Amino acid sequence: MSRFDELFAAAAAARANAYDKYSGFAVGAAVLGKDGKIYSGCNVENASFPEGWCAETTALGKMICSGEREVAEVLVMADAALCTPCGGCRQRLAEFALDEVVVHICDLSGLRKNYTIGELLPARFVLEAGESASA
Ligand code: THU
Repeated sequence: MSRFDELFAAAAAARANAYDKYSGFAVGAAVLGKDGKIYSGCNVENASFPEGWCAETTALGKMICSGEREVAEVLVMADAALCTPCGGCRQRLAEFALDEVVVHICDLSGLRKNYTIGELLPARFVLEAGESASA
């Protein structure tokens, strides 16, 4: 199985558990850490709509919790033509990914389009450790 196939299978399995009670839009994501491990996630919605979060955020949180800090590859899957990460998830992914990192956008049958983090979030906001946010 290729890494892409593994990411695809992990995202599909996570998507099957999506808590999409309010939108009915199930999303699965899989993040490959630099450690070679795959961290998957689904969207988790809430009766107070803005309190829900995206599949990418779940997957990234699992990676961070496991001690890995570097994203090597990302895959997002939904029953949609092009389910690209929302603005917040782009910033969250970019915190742990170089501009060159590839994000595979898939529908249920396979790859629709590849983007890089740099394409999804050009001129990203970066705050160096110790730098004042108000400077
Ligand atoms: N959603 C994701 O999980 N990832 C995306 O890339 C786009 C949108 C979720 C959020 C919400 O639960 C549902 O899809 C509809 O917006």
